[in-house]
Amino acid sequence: MHHSEPADDRSTFTELADQALSSGGLGEEAWVEVIRRMDRIYADLVHYQIELEHKNEELEEAQHFIDSVLTAMSDVLVVADINGRIQRINQAMLDMTGKRAEELLGRDIAILFTGESVNMAREFPQKVRDHAITDCEAEMLGADGEPVPIAINCSPRYDSNGVLSGMVITGRQLGELRRAYRELQDAHQRLKDAQRQLVQSEKMASLGRLVAGVAHELNNPISFVFGNMHALKRYENRLRRYLDTVHQGRPAAEVETLRRQLKIDRLLKDIGPLIDGSLEGAERVSTIVQNLRRFATPNHQGFSWFDLSRLVENAVTWVAKTTRTTPELHFDMPEELPIHGSEGHVHQILINLVQNAIDAMEELAQPRLDIHVVRQSKRVEVHIRDHGPGIPEEHLLHIFDPFFTTKEVGKGTGLGLYISYGLATEQCGGDLSARNHPEGGAEFVLSLPLEHGGTSA
Ligand SMILES: Nc1ncnc2c1ncn2[C@@H]1O[C@H](COP(=O)(O)OP(=O)(O)OP(=O)(O)O)[C@@H](O)[C@H]1O
Ligand SMILES: [Mg+2]
Repeated sequence: MHHSEPADDRSTFTELADQALSSGGLGEEAWVEVIRRMDRIYADLVHYQIELEHKNEELEEAQHFIDSVLTAMSDVLVVADINGRIQRINQAMLDMTGKRAEELLGRDIAILFTGESVNMAREFPQKVRDHAITDCEAEMLGADGEPVPIAINCSPRYDSNGVLSGMVITGRQLGELRRAYRELQDAHQRLKDAQRQLVQSEKMASLGRLVAGVAHELNNPISFVFGNMHALKRYENRLRRYLDTVHQGRPAAEVETLRRQLKIDRLLKDIGPLIDGSLEGAERVSTIVQNLRRFATPNHQGFSWFDLSRLVENAVTWVAKTTRTTPELHFDMPEELPIHGSEGHVHQILINLVQNAIDAMEELAQPRLDIHVVRQSKRVEVHIRDHGPGIPEEHLLHIFDPFFTTKEVGKGTGLGLYISYGLATEQCGGDLSARNHPEGGAEFVLSLPLEHGGTSA
């Protein structure tokens, strides 16, 4: 081996020197030999020196490489010994803490943390013996003294003999992620608010449309009741005159004449129907008020059992009456159809669909609506078909979009179907679809579960 040679050379060199000293001088040959060997030794030394320098360079380069990697890392990195004393720290960590390396090396890793996380960090040396700690959230102490939320990983570090010698902690700031997440949440909330507002404003729009009809509708039964009351008032006077005469004990002939004169018999026959008519009028008013109340009830309505057939009939006749040319209505539905769900929402959907159907038949001399309610095993379907022009193919894809309308400004907001679809799918657990009927006109199908939602009031 190369490295054993100099030792041999050296011993022979010593021997030679000894030899020279003891013999009192060296021959020229021996001197040459000594010099030759010294040369060789010197050459070897130089060689070692170069090799050493080379190794040093490599070491420095490796060191530099590691340093540059650690510095370039945007994640923070801390290397600690098994007792949690900081051994190494990267630039990102220094930047975050605003401290110099000298201030931190040798200190406990806990000083990097703040709040609750301090105790957590103290447990790292113990915990990391069993397993790596992954993705735990902690708060480190920022340069400004504020806590910096950070996602931390802590893994055990082993020495070249495979013995646990410490731990490596890496962390990534959560700030950005958090902020993005919060912004997303805010945006979502704003969207939800906007949507709620849309539902509300759509309600207001339908309400506005109905108010005109309502005034008209209320006017009818009320004038009816008024008329009847005036008639009854007149009858009261005549009855009083007649009864006074009877009670005064006037001759029978006179009473008889008065009875004919005042048309008492007819009057008595009229009183019944007049009272019945007034009662009916009052009931109509009461129904209208009940219908109106639905528009005023808040959005989050409870679930209850209600008769779908009655609701469909009410909603359809109600809207149909508020239009100029009342359409012919054809109902095909069970006498009674109890379903469990949100009555108010179903009512609103039906009103929207019927209003659209009637709008579509505006030009028709004899508008006609076919309403068909079918019960299936677990669902019910309400088909509302008009005899208007139908929906152009290219519009079919868009009619459920918000603000899609073909109506002139001020007439339609384009929200009716959008809101109705949302109510049908999200609030009622059902579905709403549109198609053109093979025999003309548009047909909307509202599908609802027979039983939906909890049993809240
Ligand atoms: N029965 C129908 N026949 C033909 N087209 C229809 C029918 N129903 C809806 N549409 C079309 O779908 C569009 C959107 O309807 P939607 O109810 O969403 O809004 P709108 O009726 O225009 O306005 P709003 O209901 O907000 O007052 C209508 O403008 C119309 O073009
Ligand atoms: Mg509409």
